[in-house]
Amino acid sequence: MTNTYDILNTPLSLPCGAVIKNRFMKSAMSEILGTPAYGPSKELATLYGTWAQGGTGLLITGNVMIDPTALGEPKNVVIEDERHLGALSRWATAGTKNGAHIWVQLNHPGKQSPRNLSRQPVAPSAIGFESALKNFFATPKALEENEIQELIQKFARSAGIVKKAGFTGVQIHAAHGYLVSQFLSPLHNRRADAWGGSIENRMRFVMEIYRAIRQEVGPDFPVGIKLNSADFLRGGFTEEDAAEVVAALAHEGIDLVEMSGGTYEAPAMTGSRRSQSGEEAYFMGFARKIRKNVQVPLVVTGGFRTSEAMASALAGGEIDMVGLARPLVVDPDLPSKILSGQEYRSSVKPLTTGIKLIDRLAMLEITWYENQIGRIGRGNKTRPNENVWVSLIKMATRGGMEQFRRRRA
Ligand SMILES: Cc1cc2nc3c(=O)[nH]c(=O)nc-3n(C[C@H](O)[C@H](O)[C@H](O)COP(=O)(O)O)c2cc1C
Repeated sequence: MTNTYDILNTPLSLPCGAVIKNRFMKSAMSEILGTPAYGPSKELATLYGTWAQGGTGLLITGNVMIDPTALGEPKNVVIEDERHLGALSRWATAGTKNGAHIWVQLNHPGKQSPRNLSRQPVAPSAIGFESALKNFFATPKALEENEIQELIQKFARSAGIVKKAGFTGVQIHAAHGYLVSQFLSPLHNRRADAWGGSIENRMRFVMEIYRAIRQEVGPDFPVGIKLNSADFLRGGFTEEDAAEVVAALAHEGIDLVEMSGGTYEAPAMTGSRRSQSGEEAYFMGFARKIRKNVQVPLVVTGGFRTSEAMASALAGGEIDMVGLARPLVVDPDLPSKILSGQEYRSSVKPLTTGIKLIDRLAMLEITWYENQIGRIGRGNKTRPNENVWVSLIKMATRGGMEQFRRRRA
């Protein structure tokens, strides 16, 4: 018997030849479940095993750092050499249960590394934040040419280890205002050399990272990217820039492009800017524009909440996969529910304490979801109705008031 949601159950073949069993992609969510030595904890294996059993075709890990001197958050996992290969392999094995793919999202935070983690962050140019964020992030040092080359090699080395550990792909994090996104943005990248200026120059860093990774992992291993449709900042990375980057990466053979948007300064990724058309998924308008010109597998993440919107975005041929983050925390087996023919509406809704300052300082959404992610990692059920104050108090007792200084996206 067929059901309306069969389209979500159709396998997807990627340019490299890999096949994803269905059209559900779990987007990256930082788990903050790394060990004190920056290895993966056993909770990560339990967490991804649960998601794999829940029917998702492609699981993208939370951002994993390529350099221990540049962390985005405390308890990040870092892959710089093979010291954690055993634990990484156990994580990969859990995430490939039930025919799922698991790809590692590789990231470098650039200037978005908080003061308590980096006294001297690096960036394309030595430009600090102007807004209240400058209290949390130090002014970065501009990268030298040889340091840029080293970072490109670090991305490639990490990707090689990811493959060796048994993960089935990698995703370059080029969105949300981190280092790759800083290179793409004319606001953050004021370089006058080959790495700045025109969009061809600003995209050189990401293109070189892609080429170095491809060289390392070979033609058959999936390499994807998460890219901003725009930064939503005056003078920043625009949709036109993004379209050029997608076309260039597609030409070079990228396997999957995930579209998001925003930075720490304008956090559009979690819905601070709803799409003007009122569509459930905020970046669908941009996907339609891209689709007209480029044939590359596309995913949109941000805002999908109903089985109907997911199926109709795929049926319209505008995207190839549906990216989901918060709904999969509340319902780790959401894909299985939909694929059994159930009409689905996620119970995810904006969270607030009612006090704006606290919501902002504590990054309420992030804190609440991290807390639920931790529950799944410990083998517990999520508590979709848990009061937001509970997650705030847990955060403060676990990490002390210092936690309130943390910033991420
Ligand atoms: C707790 C939390 C952690 C996140 N960590 C990451 C991350 O590490 N990398 C990333 O690209 N996006 C991250 N995001 C953004 C999500 O991948 C996604 O783009 C966003 O939540 C919108 O999708 P949704 O409406 O389905 O939740 C995070 C979001 C949340 C809620």
